[in-house]
Amino acid sequence: MGYTPEMKELIKRVEATRAERIERTRKGEYFTPMTLEQREEVLGRFHPDYMAAGRRSVTLGPNKGDIYPEEIVDLFEAYPRIHPDHVDLEALPIYETDVLVIGGGGGGTSAALLAAEKGCQVILATKLRHGDANTVMAEGGIQGADHEVDSPYFHFIDTLGGGHFTNRPALVAALSRDAPLVIAWLEKLGMMFDKRPDGRMLVRHGGGTSRKRMHSAGDMTGSEIMRVVRDEARNRRDAIDVMEFSAAVELLKDPSGRAAGALFYNLETEEFFVVRSKAVVMATGGNGRLHIQGFACTNHYGATADGLVIAYRAGVPMDFLHSTQYHPTGAAYPEQNVGLLITEKVRGLGANLCNIHGQQFVFEREPRDVESAAIIRECAERGLGIRTPVGRLGVWLDSPMIEELEGPGAVERELPAKYMQFIRYGIDIRKEPMLIYPTLHYQNGGIQINANAETTVPGLYAAGETTGGVHGENRLMGNSLLDILVFGRRAGANAAEYIQSAGAPGKGGLDHVRAYVHELEAAGVERTRIAPMVLPDYTTDDVHKRQLTAHYAGTLR
Ligand code: FUM
Repeated sequence: MGYTPEMKELIKRVEATRAERIERTRKGEYFTPMTLEQREEVLGRFHPDYMAAGRRSVTLGPNKGDIYPEEIVDLFEAYPRIHPDHVDLEALPIYETDVLVIGGGGGGTSAALLAAEKGCQVILATKLRHGDANTVMAEGGIQGADHEVDSPYFHFIDTLGGGHFTNRPALVAALSRDAPLVIAWLEKLGMMFDKRPDGRMLVRHGGGTSRKRMHSAGDMTGSEIMRVVRDEARNRRDAIDVMEFSAAVELLKDPSGRAAGALFYNLETEEFFVVRSKAVVMATGGNGRLHIQGFACTNHYGATADGLVIAYRAGVPMDFLHSTQYHPTGAAYPEQNVGLLITEKVRGLGANLCNIHGQQFVFEREPRDVESAAIIRECAERGLGIRTPVGRLGVWLDSPMIEELEGPGAVERELPAKYMQFIRYGIDIRKEPMLIYPTLHYQNGGIQINANAETTVPGLYAAGETTGGVHGENRLMGNSLLDILVFGRRAGANAAEYIQSAGAPGKGGLDHVRAYVHELEAAGVERTRIAPMVLPDYTTDDVHKRQLTAHYAGTLR
């Protein structure tokens, strides 16, 4: 298939400017980065987070009055899948454990490992298969200041800067301080990091980093992390039971308000069951499949924000949920690839972004929100985007530069997954640029936690993308794979310690859900929506209908 003849004609313009751009890059004469004022201007005018449209305030719950994307508010203003008055928990199959971990990505799995290491019995319940999570979708790397010229202090400052200094400093301190430990832990578990010929770790820049601290495993870093933590968890069968295809639909709280387990729905047998536990760790991932503002997304199929919904009903406040990350470089062509992640490593390796005239229009390593806004401006205001045969807009990401800057073979060596993703559609990214446009990538905000990964509900911990505060209003590349492991480990270890001191909770029930239903009724919310969503419904093209219809109500009784 490949590019159309019209697109091939336009690519000639990129080729015409390439030699000069490579020469400038070699000399370190980069496209001028934006000033703070310029960044603010482009963000304010073009970043979806800064638009009033598509957002509204929440009418109930701990964050009543806060303004969030409508897709999220719709979920908070939705009725439960099962009314507490219509279920007898005691009549359902019941499993018991010390620590219940909800979520089978890197965050949940590392929490399970640390809780097991501290002597707990663990049930790890996950909606799809163990490892079906955004962790395996993460490509470019994981940050960790473990080189001589770097320190957790610089990592801390870079992370705050990337987040516009809005991040919760205690969370950023935990993130940057634990990072070298996490990298060493992964290596001990057998992770195949990219190394230099002398055996030391190969590290690179990401957008917004002042030092090279991005560790990688080709462009499949998340997949490699998941491989080793899942193997390790499977080797702890003595302590960790994994329940797949088990979707959490409500948390359980005891009469004193402590977390005491969860109610699940088995997607295979279509039956509800209960897990009673002494502590709960939420590691349910993000919300990309809500397609906020109609954007395509990089996320896995189960990223439907279920954890936010059930935690919110349990009274847990949210932090930074107004903020969404649009990754600058999602594939815009061919149609089969649309929305899929083109790792920031491509820009880290030097590839420029060019408009329809083949001109570079932005420094390639601006922080993600700024880079995305600049691309949207180039297409929307300046009219200098490239249109695909179905009418999508995009700009060129000039990957052939990498072969020149890093030497022949660099693309296949450094970006094997990207190479395969495009060559199967007749596009050779060693020789032709990729067409890209911003894509919904990450939920910057979520469940409020402290540096111990504790929520406001005793015995309820949370880690990873389902939480908010670590990244403030904009996350840097490589800090999410780090976040899931730093806070997953902290959550598992602290949940185990909590059990030691607090003992077992009373019998968990759904009174908080009953109270939430009363609040919904008092607020006059109509019974048109049911949450958690569990899986997105792609049988309709209408993004809103996808979540407004209670598609699974038939099967989820
Ligand atoms: O661009 C990327 O490879 C994505 C990494 C991340 O979101 O941290």
